Amino acid sequence: MSAYIINGGNYLSGEIRIGGAKNSVLPIMAASLLNLSETVLLDCPRISDVDISVEILKRLGCKVFRDETTAVIDSSDINNFEIPLELMNKMRSSFIFLGAMLAVGGKAVCGYPGGCELGARPIDMHLKAFKKLGVRIKEQGGYISCDSSHFKACKVALDFPSVGATENIMLLACKQKGTTTIINAAREPEISDLQNFLNSMGAKISGAGSNKIKIEGVASLKSVKKRIMPDRIVAATMMFAACISGGNITLKNVTCSHIESVILLLQGCGADIYTHGDSLDIICSKRLRFSDTLCTMPYPGFPTDAQAQAVAAFSTMEGTSIVKETIFENRFNHASELKKMGADITVDDRIAVIKGVKRLSGAHVYAPDLRGGAALVIAALGAEGTTVVDNIHYIDRGYEQLDKMLSALGGDIKRNDYYE
Ligand code: UD1
Repeated sequence: MSAYIINGGNYLSGEIRIGGAKNSVLPIMAASLLNLSETVLLDCPRISDVDISVEILKRLGCKVFRDETTAVIDSSDINNFEIPLELMNKMRSSFIFLGAMLAVGGKAVCGYPGGCELGARPIDMHLKAFKKLGVRIKEQGGYISCDSSHFKACKVALDFPSVGATENIMLLACKQKGTTTIINAAREPEISDLQNFLNSMGAKISGAGSNKIKIEGVASLKSVKKRIMPDRIVAATMMFAACISGGNITLKNVTCSHIESVILLLQGCGADIYTHGDSLDIICSKRLRFSDTLCTMPYPGFPTDAQAQAVAAFSTMEGTSIVKETIFENRFNHASELKKMGADITVDDRIAVIKGVKRLSGAHVYAPDLRGGAALVIAALGAEGTTVVDNIHYIDRGYEQLDKMLSALGGDIKRNDYYE
């Protein structure tokens, strides 16, 4: 068991660089199967979800070499198109490999994906779209077997702009004959990063960033080198950390337009935020105030992946706030842990009402999932006394050495990997 031990009360100041985005690197790693050649990824974060993707790639026959923040993937000897249940269960994004395996092998087998417990998180939209495109699917004994030899390009409309379904269709279709169009596609920046990656391999995809993506199939793809876009959720987490601790920090390597909803929210709460090029300063010299409603929405709306961190910040702001979670059905598991620290939060289904208290106090809490865990850590930075955040393997899924990042800014946080 691993835990973070945090002594609250330190003011955060200084500068940190944001690394590559988890939600961009994972589909791009799956896409690296498609060129049957070498892919070099720069700014590849050292997080456990990337470790699982490496395991999957190796299982499929790829060679993978990693050095600090560079990953080199050689897919020329791919020889297996089946991902066993134990690997699929480790993360939800494993399902993105299905489209990529079909694009290369024509047939693929995988189990149902795992991941954070945020509700049902079904994969029906992926499968419905695949079927519309002519993929034959059999579901049996916890496994999904697919055959794409009868693929037929067409227009596919998603019932909801699912990020994963949009990416899976892009991967499946980009080496097939004909033009596939995704209607009601997700518009998240990670989709644009995937499009750019595939196009620099030689794919012909347009429209990412809008709700209509056109994929014109090409026969083959070539070797590529790509820098992963900065992680907008890590950047947002650091901004909320600055709010909670009354900090003055500079973030380097951020795409400010990707976090506009977070910038506008926090400016409205009274934070001073200045953007210049790929860096952002956030200064929170007084207690912030929020007495409004925040709804999570698909991009460019406020990201569900920053909702827990916002709840942590609202817990100590002046005023009463309402947070509505519209993307996932069960994404307030951090609320009961924050309450142990003295937060005043009432949750009813997908709505949380947060009455700001002056200060939280240290407690022993458990990370309920990846972002909920990060929310507890940043809440602890502003709390009185010592907080132990347990179950931090969840946080390791998406934050590279969160303790080192926060200590570099003056936070008093230590990792204990031997905690019983
Ligand atoms: C991705 C992100 C995740 C983020 C989420 C929403 C990655 C690796 N993960 O997850 O961090 O929180 O987008 O921005 O990029 N749904 C269905 N059926 C489906 C697919 C999805 O009902 O077939 C539902 C989900 O249960 C959820 C909603 O649609 O309620 C959004 O899911 P989706 O956009 O697909 O999220 P992910 O791609 O899993």
